[in-house]
Amino acid sequence: MQIFGVDIGGSGIKGAPVDLDRGDLARERHKVLTPQPATPEGVAGCVVEVVRHFDWDGPVGVTFPGVVTGGVTRSAANMDKSWIGVDTAALLSRKLGGLPVTVLNDADAAGIAERSYGAAEGRDGTVILLTLGTGIGSALFVDGKLVPNTELGHLELKGHDAETRASVKAKEDGDLTWERWAHRLQKYLAHVEMLFSPDLFIIGGGVSRKPEKFLPLIQGIRADIVPAKLQNNAGIVGAAMAARPPKGRRS
Ligand code: BGC
Repeated sequence: MQIFGVDIGGSGIKGAPVDLDRGDLARERHKVLTPQPATPEGVAGCVVEVVRHFDWDGPVGVTFPGVVTGGVTRSAANMDKSWIGVDTAALLSRKLGGLPVTVLNDADAAGIAERSYGAAEGRDGTVILLTLGTGIGSALFVDGKLVPNTELGHLELKGHDAETRASVKAKEDGDLTWERWAHRLQKYLAHVEMLFSPDLFIIGGGVSRKPEKFLPLIQGIRADIVPAKLQNNAGIVGAAMAARPPKGRRS
């Protein structure tokens, strides 16, 4: 079965039909640059462009880098504040001529993809995926069940919003060496571990392609720590999974 997945990010909006039997893109993804300012109207136009590129006619799953409940975007730490309170699922469905649209948090989408097809495949217990990028996103699973919108990137760390200390953006902005950044990440992981005692941490985002640069530097964490497997496409795959119609209903 194929469902369309779109990943909305601060720099790009990318999407493709996803083959849910394989947990992979069915076709090469199409990407457009995120307009600045990244307002709902502007971004919606880009989502339409990505979906139309494939002449898609069916359910569409969309990730958003903020809290999403019932299709409504509720926070926008690294996006235009005008997203807060918008019924984004309804907006996108209208722009897409009535196609059914499901919207969810970007890290939650990456997490459900990793749980089904990637680094947490079949893992029970408490599993936390952290996406390290412009911000820090989180997906918390308990015996395979997602607890949505956990927002662990905004825990307080030494009096700061954690994502401003331990994200990849913080590394780049502060011109931090891998050692210094790994030290901050270790403090952050220790804090999350103190609160949730996970069995497994999965590290996602662009840095998951270079785990050898920082994972060996992290010490004193009891949980296993592994890099994400699906990397760039986890958001698209997870978005499509979330939009799969319930069994027994045809799309
Ligand atoms: C947002 C999260 C998002 C994460 C990664 C954070 O700033 O609050 O909702 O998952 O960035 O994009």
